[in-house]
Amino acid sequence: MAETAAAFKPPISVALTGASGAQYGLRLIDCLVTTGHEVWVMISKAAHMVVATETTEALPARPDKLAQALIRRSGAAQGQIRCFAREDWMAPVASGSGASSAMVICPCSTGTLSAVATGASNNLIERAADVALKERRRLILVPRETPLSAIHLEHMLTLARLGAVILPAAPGFYHRPDSVADMVDFVVARILNQLGIEHRLMPRWGE
Ligand SMILES: Cc1cc2nc3c(=O)[nH]c(=O)nc-3n(C[C@H](O)[C@H](O)[C@H](O)COP(=O)(O)O)c2cc1C
Repeated sequence: MAETAAAFKPPISVALTGASGAQYGLRLIDCLVTTGHEVWVMISKAAHMVVATETTEALPARPDKLAQALIRRSGAAQGQIRCFAREDWMAPVASGSGASSAMVICPCSTGTLSAVATGASNNLIERAADVALKERRRLILVPRETPLSAIHLEHMLTLARLGAVILPAAPGFYHRPDSVADMVDFVVARILNQLGIEHRLMPRWGE
């Protein structure tokens, strides 16, 4: 029997932008599906290029087809994943009254980081992040760039002061990862911790 939206835990928005590390975002979506959350997904044009470069996934651009592809790969129930287009200003995330309780931009390009720090709101990802900030909702950005310029650092500081969480895609090595998947899980576990979502991706420090 098809699931209804009410059967899922509250929606969490996940935006993939064009920084390296598409696997972090895809794994995050899978984990949120497993924990029973509804997941609202936005994928930038550049992120589609990164997905094609870094993974074997073939993700369609059209939101309805994208949602079906993500549902298939993550084993989600129908309706558990919704996808929104770049300029879908009617999407719930575009307004404070419809926004999800938390948003994660993972990975976050320095371009999107800059746009969020300056309130550009030129596409739905930027607008949704702007809404999260104004509504004082949880906003987590997972930038991946190195080295960082003063521009990047200033934007991160601006956002941290506004209450956003800057969570760089910087996997540690003290858990002795055996695989890329272990390194991806290191970062995704940190994101889930910030969202207050229980997981068993890896033991917590001291366990
Ligand atoms: C394969 C690939 C890897 C990239 N890696 C990075 C990266 O690690 N960090 C970054 O900030 N931009 C990276 N870029 C550049 C961004 O995709 C580019 O600045 C783009 O305009 C970002 O747009 P978006 O923020 O709308 O996704 C990469 C681009 C490609 C195609």
